[in-house]
Amino acid sequence: MATERESAVGGCTMLRIPEVIQKKRDGGELSQQELEALVLGGLRGEVPDYQVAAWLMAVYFRGMTPRETVTLTTILQHSGEQVHLPPLGKPTLDKHSTGGVGDKTSLVVVPLLAACGVAVPKMSGRGLGFTGGTVDKLESIPGFRTDFSAVEMAHLVQQVGACLVGQSPELVPADKYLYALRDVTATVDCIPLIASSVMSKKLAGGAEHLLLDVKVGSGAFMTHLPDALELARTLVQIGEMAGRRTLALVTDMSQPLGEAVGNALEVAEAIAVLQRRAGAASARFEVLCIELAAHALLLAGLETDLYQARLRVRKRLEEGAAWQTFRQLVQAQGGDVRTVDDPSLLPQARVRLPICIPQTGYIHAVDARGVGLLAVRLGAGRARKEDAIDHAVGIRILRHVGDHVEPDLPVAEVHAQDDTLAAEVAAELQECFLVGEGAPRFQPLVYAVVPESNQFGG
Ligand code: URA
Repeated sequence: MATERESAVGGCTMLRIPEVIQKKRDGGELSQQELEALVLGGLRGEVPDYQVAAWLMAVYFRGMTPRETVTLTTILQHSGEQVHLPPLGKPTLDKHSTGGVGDKTSLVVVPLLAACGVAVPKMSGRGLGFTGGTVDKLESIPGFRTDFSAVEMAHLVQQVGACLVGQSPELVPADKYLYALRDVTATVDCIPLIASSVMSKKLAGGAEHLLLDVKVGSGAFMTHLPDALELARTLVQIGEMAGRRTLALVTDMSQPLGEAVGNALEVAEAIAVLQRRAGAASARFEVLCIELAAHALLLAGLETDLYQARLRVRKRLEEGAAWQTFRQLVQAQGGDVRTVDDPSLLPQARVRLPICIPQTGYIHAVDARGVGLLAVRLGAGRARKEDAIDHAVGIRILRHVGDHVEPDLPVAEVHAQDDTLAAEVAAELQECFLVGEGAPRFQPLVYAVVPESNQFGG
């Protein structure tokens, strides 16, 4: 049984925590004071984890009202330090993806936007489950630092026009606390909890404009379009209510994005796009980078027409301006520029095993979640939070949905440190490909823009 100290917290009016949990359990709306008592009380150790966990499960089943979701976001946002950017004379924008397999768009979009005149203070996370994380990818560049304070982050943005940093421990500690509890109580995939978690970090990051890439498909948290749309609308609503111009693109994650899945492999693919030498397997990845950057220019008010925005973004990419900004960013954050100039100097796996499929036809599906899980098995991601990762290993997807295949044409390549594991993964990777006789239906890359793009003139 809970002790009196465990049960009652909160300023002058003592709140009884079991009654607060009961209110949510019965579908009620919690007040700011009640949410603070639970979340901040839990963070400070005044409310035991089992009571916070019970509330999380009640939220999972009962949901939250829009007002509760915004209130929770604000509580999380203000639980630690906030980034205050100095006046930069240009719009500031942060970009966030809800996570996917092979999603290395930030590595291209951030320098690309900086090259287009948008300041991008980008805060990223580590890999989560089968989805990769930008911080892990960047750490495959020898020397690259992501642990900057809020003040250092502001300096980097002044110096380079952008930064790619990790979340400092002082920022949004209540989200870290809550996320760890969600992770072990099966309450991660809950729209109001995801939305408040994502937006608290974005709001604390200090950018005026927020661009969100909400992934949908087997390789994303949201596997169904209606859920992804609801998440996108919730994220945008929170951003707008907090006074930040916010736009979300709902994009496909039913097959891995581009060619590479795995940290150094993804950095090398992003460099190939920035250096204008990427192959056909990277085409969807490159198009998505251009779409995201073009919408960001509309959002930041630097363009009023989506067509013109695309042209501007393409031009900066083709001129090499985005590549030069990426190099500067790597240098400013302590990375060894020689390894990005020559990606063969990035960590390399010992074994490379091509895989073929003994069929002739067209690829109808490549299971993104299956590929993500196999990459984790190779060591590219973590099974437990404290696990180390191997930056060199991963999978290259050489053929995508709609591509023709023949028995002796490799569809993928496994990069591993060990022959036995490589062979096991290769056998399972074959099962991730679905081949049929006729060409499959076209698979959209961008399903929706929330709110609709013409609100921003596109
Ligand atoms: N990413 C986050 O930052 N939080 C979530 O809850 C899910 C994905």
